[in-house]
Amino acid sequence: MSLLTINNLSVQFETAGATVPVLDRIDFEVAAGDHIALIGESGCGKTVLGMSVMRLLPPNARITGAIRYAGSDLLQVAEREMQQIRGRGIALISQNSVSSLNPVVRIGDQIAESLSLHTQYRGDDLRHEVIRLLAELGIEQPEESVQKFPHQFSGGMRERILVAMALACNPDIIIADEPTTGLDALVKVQILRLLKKAMQGRTLLLITHDLGTAFTLASRTAVMYAGEILECGPTSEVFSHPRHPYTQGLLASSPSAGFHPIPGLSPAPGQVPSGCRFCPRCSCAMDTCRSLHPHLKETGRGRRVRCFRYD
Ligand SMILES: Nc1ncnc2c1ncn2[C@@H]1O[C@H](COP(=O)(O)OP(=O)(O)O)[C@@H](O)[C@H]1O
Ligand SMILES: [Mg+2]
Repeated sequence: MSLLTINNLSVQFETAGATVPVLDRIDFEVAAGDHIALIGESGCGKTVLGMSVMRLLPPNARITGAIRYAGSDLLQVAEREMQQIRGRGIALISQNSVSSLNPVVRIGDQIAESLSLHTQYRGDDLRHEVIRLLAELGIEQPEESVQKFPHQFSGGMRERILVAMALACNPDIIIADEPTTGLDALVKVQILRLLKKAMQGRTLLLITHDLGTAFTLASRTAVMYAGEILECGPTSEVFSHPRHPYTQGLLASSPSAGFHPIPGLSPAPGQVPSGCRFCPRCSCAMDTCRSLHPHLKETGRGRRVRCFRYD
């Protein structure tokens, strides 16, 4: 059963003198219990997609399409209703742990605020629940830690605090945006292990440019490029038998595959080629790819690919 359904979602930004398209007709579903990763190079629109679902895009964003959750279209509901959904229905672990925690509010108070907004915990019960959450997420000395400010924690510990805040209200869906970016290798492994455990029985939309993170945490993967999905399917199959030349290039560019970067750069928003968006960088491009824009086609076994080679 689909918990979150994104239909025909497009986002454009109004900037000085121009309207810049950033997401183009995105369709995908997140089923209950799914762990789905959105991967792709930076700038392809992953964070904008997550922020669209949370309805937290800046005022210069123009969104069209539909985001269905719990019987409503999130793009149509009143802001008051959206405030109830954020945190309790859909929680976001945002991209930058430094800027997403309030620097002048003690950690315990930040978690308690979210809990008291969406749950019945009050007084001592509230305090105990905050401490329990910090302990569950492996924060040392949780009784003392609640008194501390964000700058008193390392990057890895701040990431754990963000996970604790996201789990606080037991949301239906957790969106984790680049949860391992900027962490050193050892801390990254710890956070991955922790997330893997914490997400058991939950629904996760993971946003990452890190293939290892997607491979570890997600059962399904969607590959994004220049504002559209180029390929999706079960993670094990997408990683072992990538179909789209872009996915093949991404995998070959990872350090474990010998670090062979894809030549060229992703197109800037608003400057995408009219045919296949990946065509200028694709070693298998045909004439058709330069003139026609491919659709995302079913290729069997839950896989879809946007490439004329699979017609
Ligand atoms: N407020 C904004 N105004 C104009 N362009 C934006 C804005 N926010 C993001 N963008 C552009 O949208 C594109 C996608 O950004 P983003 O979703 O952050 O990429 P990523 O895949 O790295 O998370 C980028 O080209 C970025 O510059
Ligand atoms: Mg991002």
